[in-house]
Amino acid sequence: MITSRRARATADSATDAVWRGKTRQTHAVTAERPGIRLRQLGTDQLTPADIGALRDLLWAAFAEDEHGGFGEDDWRHALGGIHFVLEVDAQIASHAAVVERELHVAGRALRTGYVEAVATVPALQGQGLGTLVMREVNDYVAAKFELGALATGSQAFYERLGWRTWRGRSYVRTEHGEQRTSDEDGYILVLLTPSSPPLDLESPISCDWRSGDVW
Ligand SMILES: CC(C)(COP(=O)(O)OP(=O)(O)OC[C@H]1O[C@@H](n2cnc3c(N)ncnc32)[C@H](O)[C@@H]1OP(=O)(O)O)[C@@H](O)C(=O)NCCC(=O)NCCS
Repeated sequence: MITSRRARATADSATDAVWRGKTRQTHAVTAERPGIRLRQLGTDQLTPADIGALRDLLWAAFAEDEHGGFGEDDWRHALGGIHFVLEVDAQIASHAAVVERELHVAGRALRTGYVEAVATVPALQGQGLGTLVMREVNDYVAAKFELGALATGSQAFYERLGWRTWRGRSYVRTEHGEQRTSDEDGYILVLLTPSSPPLDLESPISCDWRSGDVW
């Protein structure tokens, strides 16, 4: 899904207490900090309570998104792969999912780790939690896939972590052949991995079809 950069919510006093004694700035937290736990879970390992908490997080984090917020299609797109679930003091605070898709670059099929549903609970944004989650996502994608990909309006958040904006034309593969997705051009980012072939970022790129946002 594509989202725009949005205003950061102000932390409320209750969650501020979680960070008492810490400077409220990005990278202020580390995975070693007591109270932070980052797990990788298959969708079938999520408990009903996890699912409820993740859905609350995603709907809240995307509530101000100009593309209409988070929807059931977006939730479905995040299922079936691995969830990166970060908890602060046993409460789910940040999340990303990686699902497998087949992208084609200049006609070549690439087994791709596609990143979905990246979000931090609004009150805890700007403290480095999303970065911790994405660093783990990067490592996982690099180990398992020929390419990482995602669609976003928040390019800068990912570019600082090594993701690169695709510069070529984008398409979706349908039963009627490839169809142009020009609205997505400039919003698709990729992560090259040790098993990526040489890629020209100005080549055409296509994704497999799915309902909802195809990218
Ligand atoms: C984007 C998001 C996941 C970042 O999570 P976070 O925990 O706040 O991220 P961090 O605190 O690790 O941010 C680290 C850096 O990314 C920057 N950043 C955060 N959100 C950003 C955004 N939407 N666009 C561009 N840069 C962003 C921060 O300014 C910070 O930069 P700095 O290190 O130069 O200060 C979070 O803001 C969020 O949930 N947003 C709403 C949902 C969304 O837009 N998801 C991602 C797009 S698909």
